[in-house]
Amino acid sequence: MSSSQSSSLGLLLKALPLASLASAATLNSNYKFNPLEHLGGVAPYFESKDPVASPDVPQGCTASRAAYLVRHAAIAANDFDYETYLEPFVSKVENKTNIDWSKIPTLNFLADWSAPVGEEDEEMLTRVGRLEATRLGVDLFFRYSHLKLPKKVYTSSAERTHKSAQSLVRGFEFDDNTMNVVDIYEGKKSGADSLTPYKACPKYSSSAGSDESSVMKKKYTKPIMARLNDLAPEFNFTTNDVYGMMEMCGYESVIRGKSPFCDLDLFTPDDWLAWEYTEDVRYHYNVGYGNEVAGAVGLPWLNATASLLMNNDKEAEDLYVSFTHRELPPMVLVAMGLFNNSQFGGVAESINDTMPLDRINYRRAWKASSILPFLTNLAVERLNCTGSYGYEDGEYYRVLVNSAPQPLDQCADGPGTTCSRAGFESYLQERVNMFSGDKGFTAACGVEYKNSTDTLSIYTDSGVGNGTIVGKRHEKSYHF
Ligand SMILES: *[C@@H]1O[C@H](CO)[C@@H](O)[C@H](O)[C@H]1NC(C)=O
Ligand SMILES: *[C@@H]1O[C@H](CO)[C@@H](O)[C@H](O)[C@H]1NC(C)=O
Ligand SMILES: *[C@@H]1O[C@H](CO)[C@@H](O)[C@H](O)[C@H]1NC(C)=O
Ligand SMILES: *[C@@H]1O[C@H](CO)[C@@H](O)[C@H](O)[C@H]1NC(C)=O
Ligand SMILES: *[C@@H]1O[C@H](CO)[C@@H](O)[C@H](O)[C@H]1NC(C)=O
Ligand SMILES: *[C@@H]1O[C@H](CO)[C@@H](O)[C@H](O)[C@H]1NC(C)=O
Ligand SMILES: *[C@@H]1O[C@H](CO)[C@@H](O)[C@H](O)[C@H]1NC(C)=O
Ligand SMILES: *[C@@H]1O[C@H](CO)[C@@H](O)[C@H](O)[C@H]1NC(C)=O
Repeated sequence: MSSSQSSSLGLLLKALPLASLASAATLNSNYKFNPLEHLGGVAPYFESKDPVASPDVPQGCTASRAAYLVRHAAIAANDFDYETYLEPFVSKVENKTNIDWSKIPTLNFLADWSAPVGEEDEEMLTRVGRLEATRLGVDLFFRYSHLKLPKKVYTSSAERTHKSAQSLVRGFEFDDNTMNVVDIYEGKKSGADSLTPYKACPKYSSSAGSDESSVMKKKYTKPIMARLNDLAPEFNFTTNDVYGMMEMCGYESVIRGKSPFCDLDLFTPDDWLAWEYTEDVRYHYNVGYGNEVAGAVGLPWLNATASLLMNNDKEAEDLYVSFTHRELPPMVLVAMGLFNNSQFGGVAESINDTMPLDRINYRRAWKASSILPFLTNLAVERLNCTGSYGYEDGEYYRVLVNSAPQPLDQCADGPGTTCSRAGFESYLQERVNMFSGDKGFTAACGVEYKNSTDTLSIYTDSGVGNGTIVGKRHEKSYHF
């Protein structure tokens, strides 16, 4: 390069903002990549704007009621992930004391890294988790400040969901002790009548999807293993080590607020996209369109929620908030027909063909990072619209997933992504028809216990009680 060329290049570089230098590519590229937004079920809460429609209500509309279904906030590893991926990697690092990590590029942080999580922390809500749930409480207060505060927040009975509900209440209520938390037992015989109906569904298996996802897991980790084993042959990195290190990026971030495993010099954007797709395949078969019971398990919440919002009972709450685990929100999305890869697809194609095992379908609608990060939340709103140009005054309905309004198939006769009451009623009827009778919860799940039910009635059943007060202080025994 001549000196005049190099100095004009120097000038050009100085004129560019630093960010575009850091992310490389070219003059016009503004490529940026944040691994925390591609971590599926271990992503700290974020709003993926999928789709980018505005979260604000359409002109002339105000929310008059809303119901939220929320996954618990961030935890320090579930027991499966801990035992399968995190602990084996950590104990290998601790055992192989002969490796001088400090000399090994991209892995030198391991020289003085210690595990952020031990067995005693499994399943516990982290500080980041508490913050996430509290922030959602504040967000709900801002979004619905004109509505009555709910008297109760419902939660499945596990500690992580219960504490998430308490944290939300702390952000939501203004004076102490106006909102209670009501625990709903996570039983194996609840039928559809709980916030964890999949646990009472014999045909649901928590390991569904692992065989299918292991195809992509093996494929994408192979070159990464080779690269890392070239750097540190004594460690003998395995598929599960690589997968677990990437998962550690999510868990360590929600425990310590940051993680060296998220560094893009260690794992590239392509590596993260393949990790994400591996998980999306798993969730497709586990809780998504590739699982034959998903819609039947999700429907009771949709149906019960629709009747809470559509009734004109003056005593009814304005807001319903319920906490559950990662399985239920995606199953409700299937019941609703959202994030369906086939929606605008070809005719005869099977839904399973939309998630090939050996290559990534980059244009899929089914993305766990949008659907079930920690604290994922799904809302149905009843809106009162007057003076929305081009639309009659009246009642409209819409669905939000992590604040992003979702267009409902066959329910699009209102402003923005909303539909009219009549449109919503016929949409609901169509969904109920798809997952009831011999396709309803009891039949689809192959339930053998005697007292199953296809409907969810906790919101109207006085038997669930009034719950317990929350208070502003966290208990001392809190782990993080
Ligand atoms: C670590 O060392 C202990 C004791 O030698 C052994 O029992 C354990 O299997 C080792 N773990 C790994 C992951 O190598
Ligand atoms: C069915 O009976 C079991 C055990 O008696 C109970 O725990 C469960 O809640 C019942 N289910 C329903 C839907 O009432
Ligand atoms: C590396 O790990 C794999 C899987 O645990 C094992 O089968 C293999 O024998 C190990 N190789 C060496 C050189 O230790
Ligand atoms: C998709 O695959 C799952 C698991 O093999 C199977 O149960 C389901 O029936 C398949 N779905 C369709 C529509 O073929
Ligand atoms: C997904 O979309 C396809 C194509 O529109 C449709 O045939 C199928 O019923 C949808 N699945 C569900 C569960 O709604
Ligand atoms: C809807 O809004 C209009 C105008 O603000 C108001 O007059 C009406 O009472 C509202 N209806 C309901 C059901 O809230
Ligand atoms: C749907 O809700 C209605 C009204 O609450 C109820 O009568 C019906 O049994 C429910 N159906 C299902 C499948 O949940
Ligand atoms: C729950 O609260 C209502 C209204 O305050 C009260 O009438 C009812 O007795 C309470 N139920 C229980 C089980 O405490």
